[in-house]
Amino acid sequence: MSTFTEFPAHDTMLGESPEFQAVLRAAAITAVTDATTLIQGESGTGKELLARAIHEQSRRAEGPFVTINCAALPENLAESELFGHRKGAFTGATGDQPGRIQAAHGGTLFLDEVGELPLGIQAKLLRFLEGGEVQPVGQPRPERVDVRVVAATNRDLFGEVRAGRFREDLFYRLNVVPLQLPPLRERGPDLELLVTRLTARLAMEHRLDAPRYSVGAMEALQRYRWPGNVRELRNVCERMVILFPGQTIQAGNLPAEIRQRDPDHEAGEFVLPDTGVHLEALEQDLIRQALQRTRGNQSKAARLLGLTRGTLIYRMKKYAITD
Ligand SMILES: Nc1ncnc2c1ncn2[C@@H]1O[C@H](COP(=O)(O)OP(=O)(O)OP(=O)(O)O)[C@@H](O)[C@H]1O
Ligand SMILES: [Mg+2]
Repeated sequence: MSTFTEFPAHDTMLGESPEFQAVLRAAAITAVTDATTLIQGESGTGKELLARAIHEQSRRAEGPFVTINCAALPENLAESELFGHRKGAFTGATGDQPGRIQAAHGGTLFLDEVGELPLGIQAKLLRFLEGGEVQPVGQPRPERVDVRVVAATNRDLFGEVRAGRFREDLFYRLNVVPLQLPPLRERGPDLELLVTRLTARLAMEHRLDAPRYSVGAMEALQRYRWPGNVRELRNVCERMVILFPGQTIQAGNLPAEIRQRDPDHEAGEFVLPDTGVHLEALEQDLIRQALQRTRGNQSKAARLLGLTRGTLIYRMKKYAITD
């Protein structure tokens, strides 16, 4: 059995946080099997990168890696695209055409954005997953294909099942090994590691000297919520490499959306009522709420309040707040 340290994704997929390493470990174990794998995670968390890493670590590494973007499959063409067709099967079918699934024979089929798959095609895909056979349009008999399936989605796929947009049986057939990639904002120390390593990598690619980040710039990067996850971070690093080669980046040099404090907590959003407030009481109340919401986790509570943990502890002492 392969171990985590042998997993080549360790080189390409950066990250050392326990949340991320747990996913890599599970991926390394499943890579050596033929088990169907479902990768879930927000946009830009590395689902495609992980799917490729699984393929490269599998016994199918020398075989093809075929991606089907399910979001881009027009419903009327999907069947022929996936399963192929025989000459004369429909108007315009001028010759035999193998499908994408057959193209993945001996390798891995990556069903990207699988949550977007039209319902009609879901049933046909299920039949393939259960029997390992595909039936090209216009061909009387099905044929066997040897394919390992890895699927990915940024939707909550079980939520799609509950909403009636995704077949429950197909969900369970895909979800044999579930891998959940954490959002960047929940990967703690990985942020700084990714900033440094991606910046170094990108500087090399552009043949430029890598810039450094001031403490203030790094703090701003850590405060930001990264809705586009690693993809967004990579783009920011690339921009910094190009604009500030060999220099030290200050917080003010960062893109506006990162420089600004978290818009959810923008002070400007709070409107002082005409009757005024009791600022100290309000502060105590907000501290209590933050601690309650984070179940007493002081680091997380401090982040919610835009404070450092030290400042939060100081104010908790000042107001004799215990969590
Ligand atoms: N752990 C990581 N280490 C280094 N680079 C990463 C990591 N995760 C993602 N990336 C990079 O971030 C970008 C986005 O990754 P990827 O395309 O795999 O995300 P995704 O989850 O498939 O996104 P989407 O849901 O939008 O399709 C790529 O450039 C990829 O190389
Ligand atoms: Mg993707």
